[in-house]
Amino acid sequence: MPMNALEPFKASAWDLPFTAADQRCAIEALEGGRVLYFEHLAFPVGDGERRMLSAASSDQKAKNISFDPGAGAVKGARTQGSGEARLLAMMSRYAGLTGTLLRGLLPHYTRALKQARTSFRPHEIEGRQPKSYRKDDRLLHADAFPSRPMRGARILRVFTNINPSGKPRVWHVGEPFDTFARRFLPDVRRAIPGVARLEAMFGITKGRRTEYDHVMLQLHDRAKRDARYQREAPRQEIAFPAGSTWVVFTDLVPHAAIKGQFALEQTFELPVAAQLRPELSPLRILERLAGRTLAV
Ligand SMILES: [Fe+2]
Repeated sequence: MPMNALEPFKASAWDLPFTAADQRCAIEALEGGRVLYFEHLAFPVGDGERRMLSAASSDQKAKNISFDPGAGAVKGARTQGSGEARLLAMMSRYAGLTGTLLRGLLPHYTRALKQARTSFRPHEIEGRQPKSYRKDDRLLHADAFPSRPMRGARILRVFTNINPSGKPRVWHVGEPFDTFARRFLPDVRRAIPGVARLEAMFGITKGRRTEYDHVMLQLHDRAKRDARYQREAPRQEIAFPAGSTWVVFTDLVPHAAIKGQFALEQTFELPVAAQLRPELSPLRILERLAGRTLAV
């Protein structure tokens, strides 16, 4: 684990230009498994939006309220009419600002970076008991989506703590990905032939799962299920204050969200080939460890 998982930046506005040195530092830190940390980069919550900062905004079934910019629709919200419109406005504004930030900070990615879902996380993490350990993000894990195969592509996420009463969002950041993967890879079973094709055919997955997706999901589940690992794995605790923003490859950096309430998150997807150093991606690390190709 690096001495400090955080790479700090001073920016306090979303559209400020970054120097070439900042841009270089950002891409190297990110791909190397660190968390870019903007202590003073807050999301301006409007007066009308402040009313939406309530766990009651959620339909209580979903962990998050999400907005798919492709479909233009909000999922997981309980409010309708003007409440839903307010949530949509808040999330699409966040989508716009995070896109601006990453274009300025990571110009090397701009052409290949795809903006995916935006989410609003209204629940207090501490004390919330998910139905399955697989969904318990208070446990150390690297992100892998059961129904959305990435086929090797990267998951880059921007988070902002928008807690109105100043409460920090506490994370644990775990060991480097190759150490994490080495620990669980020997127990990962090969995918059953034909299953990925059937799951895609019946709409269980959005597109066909590659062996990479299969391995990433197994690492995710095995890490969360391993009580001893969860107790003993090395980690750094970080309290992100209200009004701060952080950017991280969540498929590369083992992390756990321990406590906190009210955050916005924007997901971006990036092909491995668009990285400055593709060999640092989970896909290439896993292929080296497994000794075979996992996604084409
Ligand atoms: Fe996660």
